[in-house]
Amino acid sequence: MRIVVLVSGAGSNLQAVIDAVQSGDLPVEIAAVGADRPGTLGLERSAAAGLETFVVNFRDYATRADWDAALLTAVAAYEPDYVVSSGFMRIVAPGFIDAFPGRYVNTHPALLPSFPGAHGVRDALAYGVKVTGCTVHFADAGVDTGPIIAQAPVAVLDDDTEDTLHERIKVAERALLIEVLGKLAAGSVL
Ligand code: GRF
Repeated sequence: MRIVVLVSGAGSNLQAVIDAVQSGDLPVEIAAVGADRPGTLGLERSAAAGLETFVVNFRDYATRADWDAALLTAVAAYEPDYVVSSGFMRIVAPGFIDAFPGRYVNTHPALLPSFPGAHGVRDALAYGVKVTGCTVHFADAGVDTGPIIAQAPVAVLDDDTEDTLHERIKVAERALLIEVLGKLAAGSVL
């Protein structure tokens, strides 16, 4: 199973996937790692792991449609079986979803459909939920919408800050993402 991973930031979830692949625990080939901006730790991690990387810099395109088209072209060139959005902070266009039907997987640090969007951890904490968690789902062109593949709960502690809670969620998120990718590779996700 060939995947292209899309990242915007630190790429700690990506690193967990890289480690699982390199240790032989995850029978997946990371064809490339793509980003919407240059100079991120996620890209550095990928290069350090010897992976191919590409950047489709949002700021380099005059229109959103131009960027959408460039992202699709760049990803499709690797002919991935699945595209994984791992901390990729852009919503892709409907045309991207059409090009990879049921093959675009996203991770989100909350129990969807609660708390979608860029601040899922902060929003859950502000609401006062006692349990939050993470979701891996097939993404559509909405904001963190699409069929859920798997979820894991994480308890909110009384003294949690957004950072401490997010760090615990990411531990669960990494394990969940690797588990889901393993199942996709084995063909055991409907
Ligand atoms: C993850 O929690 C992801 O779900 C969210 O941002 C975090 C990415 O962290 N959108 P990293 O880049 O993998 O360290």
